[in-house]
Amino acid sequence: MKTLANTPAWKALSEHLDAMQATSLVDQFERDERRYEKFQLTAPGWFLDYSKNHINDESMQRLVALAQAQGVPEKFAALFSGDIVNPTEGRAALHSALRYQGNEPIRVDGSDVMPGVRAVLDRMATFSTKVRDGAWLGFTGKRITDVVNIGIGGSDLGPLMATEALQPFAHAALKLHFVSNVDGSHMVSTLKKVNPETTLFIVASKTFTTIETLTNANTARSWFLESDAAESDVAKHFVALSTNAEKVAAFGIDTNNMFEFWDWVGGRYSLWSAIGLPVMLSIGPDNFQRFLQGAADMDEHAKNTPLAENMPVVLALLTVWYSNFFGTTSHLIAPYDQYLHRFPAYLQQLTMESNGKSVHVDGSRVSVSTGPVVWGEPGTNGQHAYFQLLHQGTRLIPADFILAAESCNPCGNHHELLIANCLAQTEALMKGKPTSEVVAEMQAAGVSTEQIDALKTHRTFDGNRPTNTLLTQRLDAYSLGALIALYEHKVFVEAAIWDINPFDQWGVELGKQLASAIYDDMQAAVQAGKPVSSHDSSTNGLINRINSLRNHLA
Ligand code: F6P
Repeated sequence: MKTLANTPAWKALSEHLDAMQATSLVDQFERDERRYEKFQLTAPGWFLDYSKNHINDESMQRLVALAQAQGVPEKFAALFSGDIVNPTEGRAALHSALRYQGNEPIRVDGSDVMPGVRAVLDRMATFSTKVRDGAWLGFTGKRITDVVNIGIGGSDLGPLMATEALQPFAHAALKLHFVSNVDGSHMVSTLKKVNPETTLFIVASKTFTTIETLTNANTARSWFLESDAAESDVAKHFVALSTNAEKVAAFGIDTNNMFEFWDWVGGRYSLWSAIGLPVMLSIGPDNFQRFLQGAADMDEHAKNTPLAENMPVVLALLTVWYSNFFGTTSHLIAPYDQYLHRFPAYLQQLTMESNGKSVHVDGSRVSVSTGPVVWGEPGTNGQHAYFQLLHQGTRLIPADFILAAESCNPCGNHHELLIANCLAQTEALMKGKPTSEVVAEMQAAGVSTEQIDALKTHRTFDGNRPTNTLLTQRLDAYSLGALIALYEHKVFVEAAIWDINPFDQWGVELGKQLASAIYDDMQAAVQAGKPVSSHDSSTNGLINRINSLRNHLA
């Protein structure tokens, strides 16, 4: 059995751990005046301060040696050159080709994918311009005012997150809506807000077999046809984004209205492909090009920068350091930017669907833990909710704070307060507040000795909690593109170190199969008037109780 823990690079880190746990972050800063200068990096659009981590020069050397030993440079080269890096599905993972700005061919199975990539981008730009300019008309001759994207997972989270993040650049007369959940309330509540004459539906599904998306798309089409629209009007109001022309046609969408992508684009990496159409409709082709450029520049950084100065590599190494050596199990994403409010949800899919794996690429069981739970909410809201646990809870939770120096909406002193809060949190998490300081503060405020004794431990903060701060000038299409690509590569490097496949997602299949069996059993039980008995007693019991609550069974 492969045991990563037995490799020399891993052992070197294990041996180093005690020394790092014996010193605090505050000690490290006191010992090294140049710490901030040393542990910082720049990459396209972004500056990273990673000095508030449990590392020193020695730690970074040992971590970089691990990346080297696990073949990160070779694996990056394989990724970017279109090798089969997803062996369980026999596929390349060439999301970088979707944003590539150079003139070299990028080949899959010997043929250059770039002409196809650019042709689809051109078609998207022509279509978006028509819709944005009011030249694409609905069936009664009115311009499109609302776009409803119907998709789920990678066909929803990326476009939703990016259109929200780039609101300041959005078309003023075009409203974007996203429907993902098979819960009918999602579609019904959205349809209440739109008019069939002026609504464009985008059915986004890589496979075009996803039950949630097809169910929602059917409901939208029926709703559309219940208006005065005829079947022949569907073409003016429905477009598809998919790799599966056959299924798109079978669903009833003209393939002339289909924007194509390819099986070498993973669902959670598809934002840069036709799946980005809602983003292009919202921000326009020129801004979409800036978005691609930001990601392309981050690709060049990831590809060409030595490991120790490579931002995605360093971020990944820190995650490995905490997950595997400090035993952390989750990672907080705290964007201090309201427009990034869906970024943690987007990163959840990117990270957890990619690195939620228990076997190595060769199928053998992993011997160390892999991807952490990723979660978060924007600051400052989080400070008034879950930050208590970060500061005084028993768990160590590494965190990424994401911040722009300038606001997209300058307004009074809001942005200065936002910045101050972001920096205050990382400082507080690191420094904490020792009991001696708590006592001195209370004494100075004239609090009685009894009261001080009763409260001092409650008011003590241990500190020593690690954070990264990612800083950009302003959140715009370029910096957002670069930020997303940064995390894509971080996730890839983590997988490279753990030797797992980040590009498949077999773990989502079982639930889908069982949902389909339960659906059939529930209907059959209703028809037969008999309870279900083919599952475990809990599942049978729940099915039968629900059927009876729905008045189908006495
Ligand atoms: O069920 C998981 C998943 O396959 C994701 O990986 C994917 O992003 C999502 O479903 C949607 O898939 P599709 O775009 O094929 O509808």
